Amino acid sequence: MPTVLQCFEENTIKLPHGCLAGSCGSCRIEILEGFENLSEPSFIENDTIQSLKSQYGNERQIRLSCRAKILGPITFKLLK
Ligand code: FES
Repeated sequence: MPTVLQCFEENTIKLPHGCLAGSCGSCRIEILEGFENLSEPSFIENDTIQSLKSQYGNERQIRLSCRAKILGPITFKLLK
């Protein structure tokens, strides 16, 4: 299964990213629909997400596009 980032790159759409390892958070996205259609976050991704939630708020469904694998349809927006 491709990650969100890989899926877009395969279609020549560039998304912001940095480390590709789940630690820098530059590929952060907010999931608007289909949160359940993504793979479970790894320990490193979870740690980064918790740091981002202190900035964006706990109620937002944040994932990292370089780590989240697509299992079904999702809708998301980029987080600045
Ligand atoms: S590119 Fe660094 S966390 Fe995704």
